[in-house]
Amino acid sequence: MSAGFYKGGTVLSTFKKATKSALEEVQEEMRVRQTKEVFLLFAMGSQFDHLIKQSLEKLGVFCLVADPSSVTADDVRELKPMGIILSGGPASVQTEPPPFDRKIFELEMPILGICLGFQMWADYAGFTVTASAGHREFGVHDATLDKSSKLFEGCGGFTAVLESHGDRVEPHDGLHVIAKTDNAPVAAARYHNLWGVQFHPEVTHTTHGLRMLENFCFRICCAKDCFPATNIAQHKIRQLREQIGEKRVLLALSGGSDSSTVAYLLKEALGGKSGRIRAIYIRGIDRPDDEAFVLKYFGGQDWLELKVVDATQQFLDVLAGHVTMKAKRVAMRGVYKAILEQEAEQFEASFIAQGTLYTDISESGGGYDAGARKAVIKQHHNTNLDFKLPELLPLADCVKDNGRNIGRTIGVPEELLVRHPFPGPGLVVRVEGEVTADKLAMARVVDCIWIEELRKWQLYDTVWQAGAVITQSVTTCTKGDDAASGVVVALWAVWSVNGFTATAAELPNDFLRHVARRITNEVRAVGAVVYRLSDKPPATIEWG
Ligand code: XMP
Repeated sequence: MSAGFYKGGTVLSTFKKATKSALEEVQEEMRVRQTKEVFLLFAMGSQFDHLIKQSLEKLGVFCLVADPSSVTADDVRELKPMGIILSGGPASVQTEPPPFDRKIFELEMPILGICLGFQMWADYAGFTVTASAGHREFGVHDATLDKSSKLFEGCGGFTAVLESHGDRVEPHDGLHVIAKTDNAPVAAARYHNLWGVQFHPEVTHTTHGLRMLENFCFRICCAKDCFPATNIAQHKIRQLREQIGEKRVLLALSGGSDSSTVAYLLKEALGGKSGRIRAIYIRGIDRPDDEAFVLKYFGGQDWLELKVVDATQQFLDVLAGHVTMKAKRVAMRGVYKAILEQEAEQFEASFIAQGTLYTDISESGGGYDAGARKAVIKQHHNTNLDFKLPELLPLADCVKDNGRNIGRTIGVPEELLVRHPFPGPGLVVRVEGEVTADKLAMARVVDCIWIEELRKWQLYDTVWQAGAVITQSVTTCTKGDDAASGVVVALWAVWSVNGFTATAAELPNDFLRHVARRITNEVRAVGAVVYRLSDKPPATIEWG
């Protein structure tokens, strides 16, 4: 047990049992944080569970993540938390009840259930939870709040909330409903010490979500302590220094904000000494300008040796014949892993470092070391690679925005930090069907036009990320009075804070029409251009 901190591998450790040593470790953590108060968060497998912990930390509250499959009511009694939060998760209380000691609901302490967590206590207390066929809610909805409820103090009477659920709690006389949406007559409720919300207060799309969590901790649970924010970057640098000692590190460097931040963390940890860090940039499925950025900022440095490896042919060879995104992701990961291992051996490195974020780990089915089932949304290229060497993933407990903030505190150039993120599998996830040299070339030209125009119209910095996809759809078209057929290109752009949730960016129509015209005029094979309107969830940011 290590109070929910990242230990290596692809999970974050959790509180499993109130053993003597686990309780001593918690005491020590509380001493360092100058607090006598702890909150317990049961990670039920939600994609957002880590955001709940981060929100509580933002509020200065010490939050310990608990494993629902092993922590019992007796363990909770021993630990004496101020309050308990149950996250959401992919399970259903009727068909696949998640592991949890229901005696915990009987303890005399406030419990906040989020989504699945709400349905769990509602089911326990005898209320009806149904699969809400026809009423499924994914995305942002307007909720009417009971302003007199302590949970909603300062949140107004009407607010935006993000919901992502199939099951729902049905109204009942014994249940005190404190919020409603169009589709959910019970969007939030209270029953004695049990509080529940069907929506997700931990995501930025829920306008007053942080205030709701603050109300739960400070109004309902009556917490008093706020620990001073520690200097996270310095803590990470110290940890890296201890782990690495006098050894060498091979870094996978894409030039995005995460791997660039890791490069700078390593620089600080190793005191800027030469010969200790080799960074590998892998060419082949990258965007047109990625390599130039890496060369500009990391070429010719004495604290880091940059090596560009051209893997274009290797990628094309392994991708040949694969048509599903899943199969292509697996094939791409193989090349990525092989190159890093081979380069690490050549450099005689003892560690492989990557900019993997918590988002990547979570969507790949990892996260907290807890027994609840967690869905694999997509296998990210930089998780579960099972390298021969140990990995250094200093941003594994971060999401995009706090990873960027760490970068800012240690001097990573702003231009690198504010670049749109780009996925490790590169253009592979932006080409539908088999990836060929021709399709990669087309994806590059289209990306180039899309990003160039976003910059020209000064929209680049207003969106969080944008991409262009070469779909498998073919449209009938007419070019130069002749009948023809052409590929359909799908453009997307999103507004987001941390990539966990995102909204399709609303861009000016004349801008979109201008880009569409440029693409069909300049790229002969393209017959039509469409723009994606779906938010995440239910869509993900990338196409594949
Ligand atoms: P999704 O598409 O999962 O994307 O909503 C969230 C963020 O992660 C990026 N992404 C990846 N990044 N390896 C990465 O390093 C991957 O396999 C991968 N897949 C998606 C995506 O571009 C977005 O910023």
